[in-house]
Amino acid sequence: MFLFLVCVIFACGSEKKSSDRNMKKDLKQVVDGSKIYKRYCVSCHGMYGNMGTSGAFDLTKSALTIEEKVGVITNGRKLMTAFKSTLDEEEIKAVAEFTESLKRK
Ligand code: HEC
Repeated sequence: MFLFLVCVIFACGSEKKSSDRNMKKDLKQVVDGSKIYKRYCVSCHGMYGNMGTSGAFDLTKSALTIEEKVGVITNGRKLMTAFKSTLDEEEIKAVAEFTESLKRK
């Protein structure tokens, strides 16, 4: 019985490791906020965050915290579309963090 358990644990263990590795790979792609920004946000906010198509907020002047940005991106605001059905939490967080880098430029 003990041996059996050990086998099960080992089997699970190695399986988990390989799926963890895959997860990490996915995560790495997912967490690239600049890619997400270029794909979904540039059309309104522009490459540098200040293009302002359809009244888009100048992100270089945004005073929102990451949490507040996550809120705007998740649920949208006025003309800005909500991204909760397009992006997952991780992606929204990553792109919110990316917009911080626009500010410093
Ligand atoms: C359809 C055009 C459009 C797209 C696409 C868009 N936005 Fe916006 N965004 C807007 C508009 C318009 C506002 C201003 C909303 C308002 O006046 O309340 C805004 C506001 C914001 C704000 C709030 C800024 C502040 O300080 O109040 C953030 C952050 C933001 N957008 C980030 C993003 C990110 C990140 C993406 C890509 C995932 C994105 N937006 C895609 C139009 C867009």
